Amino acid sequence: MEPQVIEGDGVRLRPYRDGDAADVAAACADPLIQRFLDGLPSPYTEAHARWWLTEGDPATWARGGAAYAVVDPGTDRLLGAVGLDRVVAPRDQAEIGYWVAPWARRRGVAAAATRALTAYAFAAGFARLELLTRPENTASQRVALAAGYRHEGVRRSAGRTATDRTATVGPATDGPATDGSSSDGGGRHDLIAWVRLADDPADPTPRLLPDLPAGGLTDGVVTLRPTGPDDVDVMYRLHTLPEVVANRVPPAPPSRADIARRCRLAESNWLIGAGADLLVVDTATGEVGGGLALRYDEPATGQAMLGASMLPEWRGRGLLTRGVRLLADWAFDVAGIARLWAGTRPENVSAQWVLEKAGFRPEGVQVGRLPGPDGVRVDSAVYGLLPEMISRPPAT
Ligand SMILES: CC(C)(COP(=O)(O)OP(=O)(O)OC[C@H]1O[C@@H](n2cnc3c(N)ncnc32)[C@H](O)[C@@H]1OP(=O)(O)O)[C@@H](O)C(=O)NCCC(=O)NCCS
Repeated sequence: MEPQVIEGDGVRLRPYRDGDAADVAAACADPLIQRFLDGLPSPYTEAHARWWLTEGDPATWARGGAAYAVVDPGTDRLLGAVGLDRVVAPRDQAEIGYWVAPWARRRGVAAAATRALTAYAFAAGFARLELLTRPENTASQRVALAAGYRHEGVRRSAGRTATDRTATVGPATDGPATDGSSSDGGGRHDLIAWVRLADDPADPTPRLLPDLPAGGLTDGVVTLRPTGPDDVDVMYRLHTLPEVVANRVPPAPPSRADIARRCRLAESNWLIGAGADLLVVDTATGEVGGGLALRYDEPATGQAMLGASMLPEWRGRGLLTRGVRLLADWAFDVAGIARLWAGTRPENVSAQWVLEKAGFRPEGVQVGRLPGPDGVRVDSAVYGLLPEMISRPPAT
């Protein structure tokens, strides 16, 4: 590909100019860009920006990639960067990456630039573009969805966090430095792969599970909010309770690292429609009392599974039942889910009580459904809920 000027929706992609050095330097010193673009020098100075303009950028073009400044079409001021790199010519494949300067965020710059370069790359003959994000970089995952990329999976430990940050200033996504001059020595991290094919629709990728309203779901007594990376302590406590462990598959306590990973991936799992992890919060105090999880296990039939747990000191106050009702209302009315189901151990009467209070009906016992301790199989009592079955407390 040859450098061009590419017009996007409210943005222009053009080759870099010498005059961009100060803006590149200011943007690449930004903490968010430093956090999510591996291999950037730290601290990032104008000398690094000049290196990019004179060496990094031409080298990207020379190896078959593309490096564009994203600018305001009216003022020509630099807003961000977008590029292609890691070209696999025999597969007509490349990786797209971007950053947006702090002064231009949250107004569609990344999505517009990604859409524009994607269309241009497909017209130039690429068949498949990959976009790799860190699990916790959900802003970038939202960009991927907005630009029509689809989730393909987690590439375990595919990224490298270079500690000797001496070189690249590329528009690359998270990943190892591309010029070979950064030494390893840092940790490795997972990368989530988002992919668009040349014949995929250009529209934003539809989502199975929409976002919750700002502030979460509340009935004035309990509030449900999404689980996030800062919730490891309470999630670890909840999921290592013996009665919660008994329902895990396999029935063994998770490690703290397992829980940290679950919290780190929670928003991403929501974005891809795999499930919604929520915390049940006391609306008055903001304290977390328990958790609810919705696994969208059968989107084709509109069926999702509900899991629930409450810390012992929060039990017996009807808070979980309120939470289940709130989540069920959202699942049916907003997410368009047709049926919820839940499975409990047959002896877990308190869980069954909560389900029945919210309107779930027992459907039967699946014999030997789950792996139990010491190699035995354990039964599962199955419950189902349709929208018209939700039971509500009488109005006072
Ligand atoms: C990720 C980044 C490029 C987003 O740039 P941006 O121009 O602000 O993104 P856009 O305005 O195009 O937003 C696209 C979507 O993401 C959402 N979004 C962007 N930033 C967000 C944030 N911080 N929190 C939640 N949502 C966010 C927008 O609401 C929009 O969603 P919508 O399509 O549902 O409306 C920018 O935050 C950035 O430079 N981050 C550091 C570098 C980086 O992560 N690069 C990508 C590496 S994979």
